[in-house]
Amino acid sequence: MSTVNLFPTLVWRAKMSGAAAKRQVPALVREAKLFREIDAVGARWSRENYFGGYTSYSSITDLAFRSSGFARLKQWIDGEVAKYARALEFDLGRGRLEMSAFWLNIMGKGCHHSFHLHPLSAVSGTFYLQVPKGSGVFKIEDPRLPAFMASPPRKPSARQENRRFFDLVPAPGHLVLFESWLKHEVVANRSAQERISVSFNYDWTSG
Ligand code: NI
Repeated sequence: MSTVNLFPTLVWRAKMSGAAAKRQVPALVREAKLFREIDAVGARWSRENYFGGYTSYSSITDLAFRSSGFARLKQWIDGEVAKYARALEFDLGRGRLEMSAFWLNIMGKGCHHSFHLHPLSAVSGTFYLQVPKGSGVFKIEDPRLPAFMASPPRKPSARQENRRFFDLVPAPGHLVLFESWLKHEVVANRSAQERISVSFNYDWTSG
């Protein structure tokens, strides 16, 4: 008798090396705050759509073309996306995965981002720049949840692969990658300090 582990959901986690993170992360935090100062369109959009925070999701989505610091970060993320694609055994044919959007999130107290997907992309993710204690986890939902019907709940002590949610506790210099169809949320920031991250999408572009 044996069980077979079918249809896994692969989430990629990586940590920038200590020396690189020490060099890059503080400078990127400063840059993030400068972008917020100059981005009037993003500020207006955030006031209407992003309670308690600022995001450049609707205004500045090409960070790697605007700043050498974010261009360097993109290079590192590109490498991690390539490794993730190998782990998933993607068959990309003549195409490739290409970053299509790269934006900032600065979440103040009470700011949250409820469950959502990233439609039309293949791989999405977030890199963390500033994560105060109590500033909220990154929650992932079992994508099969709508199909469970009468499936009994799992024990609180169940192994992670048998649970229906996963809470990722981020830290500065950490990266998370997931397939863009995977439902996720950012739980409300309960810290008085700001939580700062950059998020991105990679699309499958045909060759
Ligand atoms: Ni998201």
